[in-house]
Amino acid sequence: MIDLASKKDDEDSSGLKRILSLRDLTFFGIAAIIGAGIFSTIGRASYDGGPAVSLLFLMVAVACIFTALCYAQFSSMIPVSGSAYTYAYASLGEIFAWVIGWALILEYAVSNMVVAISWSEYFTSMLQGFGIKWPDWLAIDAGSASRAYEQVLHAKVGEHLPGNIIAAAKTYETAPVIGNLHILFDLPAGLITVLITALVFVGIKESKNVSNGLVILKLGIIALVIVAGAFFVKPENWSPFAPNGVGGILKGVAAVFFAFIGFDSISTTAEECKNPQRDMPRAMIYSLVVCTVLYIIISLVLTGMVNYKELRVDDPLAFVFGKIGMNFIAGVISVSAVIAITSALLVYQIGQPRIWMTMSRDGLLGKKFGKIHPKYKTPSYSTIITGILVGLPAMFLDMQFVVDLTSVGTFFAFIMVCSGILYLDYKGYSKTAKFKIPYINGKYLIGILLIATGIIVYNKFGITQIKEAIAEKPLLIVFIAVWAGLAIAALKYKFSLIPILGILFNLYLMTELGLSNWTMFLIWLAIGLVIYFTYGYKNSKLNKKYEQLV
Ligand code: ALA
Repeated sequence: MIDLASKKDDEDSSGLKRILSLRDLTFFGIAAIIGAGIFSTIGRASYDGGPAVSLLFLMVAVACIFTALCYAQFSSMIPVSGSAYTYAYASLGEIFAWVIGWALILEYAVSNMVVAISWSEYFTSMLQGFGIKWPDWLAIDAGSASRAYEQVLHAKVGEHLPGNIIAAAKTYETAPVIGNLHILFDLPAGLITVLITALVFVGIKESKNVSNGLVILKLGIIALVIVAGAFFVKPENWSPFAPNGVGGILKGVAAVFFAFIGFDSISTTAEECKNPQRDMPRAMIYSLVVCTVLYIIISLVLTGMVNYKELRVDDPLAFVFGKIGMNFIAGVISVSAVIAITSALLVYQIGQPRIWMTMSRDGLLGKKFGKIHPKYKTPSYSTIITGILVGLPAMFLDMQFVVDLTSVGTFFAFIMVCSGILYLDYKGYSKTAKFKIPYINGKYLIGILLIATGIIVYNKFGITQIKEAIAEKPLLIVFIAVWAGLAIAALKYKFSLIPILGILFNLYLMTELGLSNWTMFLIWLAIGLVIYFTYGYKNSKLNKKYEQLV
C-alpha cells in the first residue's frame, strides 16, 4: 500500500475549510444523484423497458449499494479528496490511479456537459411556461440542428419524423447566418456553467448552503410527483409488465445507471468534512438508499400513469402530468427540474477540481491544479479549468452521445474501487478501517453462484440461445471469464463476497453498454496513458522518490 501517512500530512496542510457535517454530505449525495437522469433520460428507458424498468432500477441500485460499501470503507480509511483516484493510488498503485483519475473526467466533467444541456432544455421550456420565448437558435448546438435539417431534407414523402427533429430543422433554417455559417449555440447551458463555477470558486460554505436549499426543494418535488401521481395510476398500464422482454429492459442500463451516479462524489470533499472517517461512509449509504427508494417508486408511478409507449420524451416527469391535464403540476415540475438539475451540476463542478487537486499533489498534474485560493480556500485554478471544460462543449456540441461513455467510465471506476478493497483485505490493511464491509466468506460461494447461474441459464434458454446471446454481445465472454477468475481467486484467498458482487454486477451492466462504447472508452484510456507516459510518469512524486533511492 502506498504511503498513506504522507497523504494524511497533505490533508492537514491542504488549506481547505472543514465545515461539512453528516447532513451536508448526505445532501451533497442526493444533490448529485437526483439530476438529469430521473428528470430526463429515464423517459426513453421506460419506453424501451416498460413498467419493468423499475426492476432495472433495483438491479442497478444493488450494484451501486455494493459499490457504495466499498467506497465507504475506503473513505473511512483514507480521508483525502481524490475519491476513486486516491483509493486506487493507495491500493493498486500510481498507474491504476492515473487511469482512474482519467476515467473520472468522464464521470464528472463530461457528464456535467450532459447535465448542463439538460438544464438548458428544462430552463427554456420553463420560460415558455411563463410565456417568455427564448430564441431557439440560442438553445441548440449547430451540429444537432444541421443534422436535423439534413434529416428533414432527405425525408421521404409521408415519412413520420419526431416533432423535436422538425423543430430543430426549422431552427437551423431560421438562425442568423454570417457568411455560410449558421449561428447556433446553447447559451443557457454555458451561462449556468459559468454561474455554478463562480459559486464553487468562492467557497465550499456558499456551495453547501445553496446545495442544501436546492435538495430540500428537489425532494419536495419528487414527493409531489409520487403522491399526486399515485392518484392517477391505472394498474392496467403495468400490464404487460415487460413488453419488450429482458432485452428491452436492459436497453436502459446506461440511462438508469446515469441516474444513480453521484453518491461517490461525496468523497471528493473529504478534506472539507468535519469528521470524514465517520460521516462519509454514512452519507454515501444514506443518500443512495433514499434515492433508490424514490427512484423505484417514481418508475412505478410514471409507468402506471400513462402507457409506457408514450414515455419516449426528454421531460417524462412533467410530460405525464401534462398528459393527464394537470398542467399546473407539470409547470411546477419544470421549474423544479431546473432547480434540481442545478444542484447536480454544482456537486460535479465541486468534485472535478478536487480530484485534479489531489492528482496535482502527487505530481501527476501541473502544480497549478493543486493551488488553493488564499481567500476563498478552494482549488481555484482547477475550478476555472473545469468551468471552461464543461461550459464550452455544453454550449457548442451535441453531447447526448456521451451519456453511455460517462456510464462506461464510471462503471470502470466502480470496479476498480471494489477491486481495491479486495487487495486491501488480501494485504491485511482493512483491519484498521473505521467502517468495514461485513465479511461474508466468498471462498466457495463465488464458484457455486457461477455454476448455479450457468445451470439456470442453460435450462431456461438452451445452448442455441446462449450462443446467439454471446454472438450478439461478445463482451459477455469477458464477464464470464472475470467471474471464473474471481471464483478461483476467492477459493485461494477467501475473498469477501460483497466487493466481488460489486465487481460482477458492475461488469455485467457494463457489458450491456455495447462494443462501440467500450471502444470509445478504450480510446479515451489510450489517450490518458499517452499523457501519463509523456508527463505524469516523469513528474510523479513517487517516481522522483524512487529516483532518489536508486
Ligand atoms: N446522477 C446524475 C444525474 O442524473 C448524473 O444527473
